[in-house]
Amino acid sequence: MAAATPDSRLCETPGCNSAAKLQCPTCIKFGIQGSYFCSQDCFKSSWKTHKVLHKIAQGEEKDETNAYDPWPSYRFTGKLRPHPQASRRVVPPHIPRPDYADHPRGVPLSEQSARGSAHIRVLSDEEVEGMRVACKLGREVLDEAAKVIDIGVTTDEIDRVVHEACIERECYPSPLNYYEFPRSCCTAVNEVICHGIPDTRPLKDGDICNVDITVYHRGFHGDLNETFLVGATTEDANKLVRVSWECLNKAIDIVRPGEKYREIGNVIQKHAQAHGFSVVRSYCGHGIHRLFHTAPSVPHYAKNKAVGVMKPGHCFTIEPMISQGSWRDEMWPDNWTAVTMDGMLSAQFEQTLLVTETGCEILTRRQANNGLPYFMDTAV
Ligand code: MF3
Ligand code: CO
Ligand code: CO
Repeated sequence: MAAATPDSRLCETPGCNSAAKLQCPTCIKFGIQGSYFCSQDCFKSSWKTHKVLHKIAQGEEKDETNAYDPWPSYRFTGKLRPHPQASRRVVPPHIPRPDYADHPRGVPLSEQSARGSAHIRVLSDEEVEGMRVACKLGREVLDEAAKVIDIGVTTDEIDRVVHEACIERECYPSPLNYYEFPRSCCTAVNEVICHGIPDTRPLKDGDICNVDITVYHRGFHGDLNETFLVGATTEDANKLVRVSWECLNKAIDIVRPGEKYREIGNVIQKHAQAHGFSVVRSYCGHGIHRLFHTAPSVPHYAKNKAVGVMKPGHCFTIEPMISQGSWRDEMWPDNWTAVTMDGMLSAQFEQTLLVTETGCEILTRRQANNGLPYFMDTAV
């Protein structure tokens, strides 16, 4: 929202010569001269071109240069650009695969037959044990990815490490061919909210990068992600990542039998908002077991209408995506990569949970460092 100013000036919007009463609050913060608008509407309509001033003021360079330009008419919301992808990877046939792995359009027929049903399955003891194993292996795979994340490493190289770590553990990498997703994990750099496709872009000093792993082992999926700091990140980025981690953990703290799934979003939004951040609304947590995505749907925003009450034996994910600016998302023309509409940063953490008699078990918890995430590890 633009702040009121007593000065009499003309609106910055090209063609609008109305008297300007409002000044961009970000420009005030950065000490940028000018930036007066006549109304919130004019401010909004100028936003895409206006916000470039903020980036210049912050000393950031312009768009990444990259000869690869697959969508010449697409207007990117931020600085990140797609890079060429490596060729398709294969999973050896001896590893059990989910149904969509071999479907020509990657359609998970088993999920589709359960779709529309709000019924949340209570897992048997054997199924719970299957989930424990899959989730523990998923965590090991993320730990392998964490070892290689660094300045200059491409997200495709992370995908290669993930793919091989899956195969070594007799896991099928669940994202591969899910609705034709082309790679074995999702990577989300900077303004990418989720579902970024690993490619040949090298990570840069100051990036934040989420790696989202799902593995399928002996009939069960385990799903987790963490956001990593690459090199020297800004204090603003660090704070976003920390608050996103806190949002997930505050939500996990309320998980117990009898709690309503719709309460999770209230806890997350309250904490995000208290720190000036917003909650992405288009992507939710989900039930997970023999199916990758099933009931319940678990929104991360407040006052949602999620259906269902937690019971022992339920398995689901919480995976809040927290953004610096707008909560709005849009999709790249690859039909996967979700980015913030204002090009500002977004961060995410995810765990797969089991509701127990007394609370919950974090099936994908980190075994080292008291379960703390990688961004909290002290540099060696
Ligand atoms: N792992 C993601 C989640 O948390 C889903 C990725 S689906 C893919 O739900 F197709 F994009 F891989
Ligand atoms: Co998930
Ligand atoms: Co995930």
